Amino acid sequence: MIKKKTNPVIEARNLTRIYTLGDSEVIGINDIGLDIAPGELLVLKGNSGSGKSTLLSLIAGLDRPTRGYLNVADHDLTKATPSDLTHFRREVVGMVFQSFNLMPTLNVVENACLPGLLAGKSAGRITSKAMELLDWLGLSSRWNHLPAQLSGGEMQRTAIARALINDPDIILADEPTGNLDSRNGQIVVELFAELNRKWNRTVIIATHSDIADSSASMTICLKDGMITDQTCDI
Ligand SMILES: Nc1ncnc2c1ncn2[C@@H]1O[C@H](COP(=O)(O)OP(=O)(O)O)[C@@H](O)[C@H]1O
Ligand SMILES: [Mg+2]
Repeated sequence: MIKKKTNPVIEARNLTRIYTLGDSEVIGINDIGLDIAPGELLVLKGNSGSGKSTLLSLIAGLDRPTRGYLNVADHDLTKATPSDLTHFRREVVGMVFQSFNLMPTLNVVENACLPGLLAGKSAGRITSKAMELLDWLGLSSRWNHLPAQLSGGEMQRTAIARALINDPDIILADEPTGNLDSRNGQIVVELFAELNRKWNRTVIIATHSDIADSSASMTICLKDGMITDQTCDI
C-alpha cells in the first residue's frame, strides 16, 4: 500500500523579513525554509535576537514577509488580504505571549471568551466552552477574578484558554515561560504537550531556554535569522 503523504500544515520557502529603520535595514529572518507536519510539537530555539518572534509573528499572520512564500493551514499568507488575515488570526492560530497580554478590566472567563465573541459566536456557547477549558486548566474556581488577582502561572493559563477558545489548529507560544518560575514554566509546557498529544494540535514553542526540550517532536535552532544545523548551544 502506498502511504499517503500528509501535506505540511506550515510551509515556508525563502521566507525573509527585513525591518527598515530610516536608512538602515535590520534582518529579522533570512531565507528560511520550513515544512512542519500536522501534529508536531516544534521547539524553536535561539538566542535573543535570532529571529524567533519574527518567525512566529509571520506564521501568526501578525506581520507580513518582505519576500518568500508562507502557507499555513492551506492559507497562502503572502497573498492574504487584511480581512483574510483577521479571520486567520481569530480562527486558525492561537497565540500565547511571554507577557500574557490579558485585558486588565476583564475577569478570567471574559478574557478567555473575547476571541470567540469577536468571531461572532454565541455568548452562551462560548462561555460554556471557556468554562470547560478553565476547568481543564485548573482555573474553575478563579473564573470571576481579575488578572491582577492572579499569579503569573494562573495568568498564563488564562491566556492559554483564550488561545484555544476558537479551536485553532495551531498554537504559537512566544517565550511562554519567560515570566514564570521553573515549576509554573514546567506546568505550562506540560499543558502544551498534552494539547499536542491528546488533541493532536500543532504547537510551536519559541524559547531561549531548554525548558521544552524533552517535549519536542522537532527542534529548530535559529541563529542570526537563519536556521542553523549546529547544536543549539544557547
Ligand atoms: N519591529 C522591529 N523593528 C526593527 N527591528 C526589529 C523589529 N523586531 C525585531 N527586530 C530585529 O530583528 C532581529 C530578530 O528579532 P526577534 O525576532 O525579536 O528575535 P528573538 O525573538 O529571537 O529574540 C533582531 O535583530 C531585532 O532587533
Ligand atoms: Mg522574541
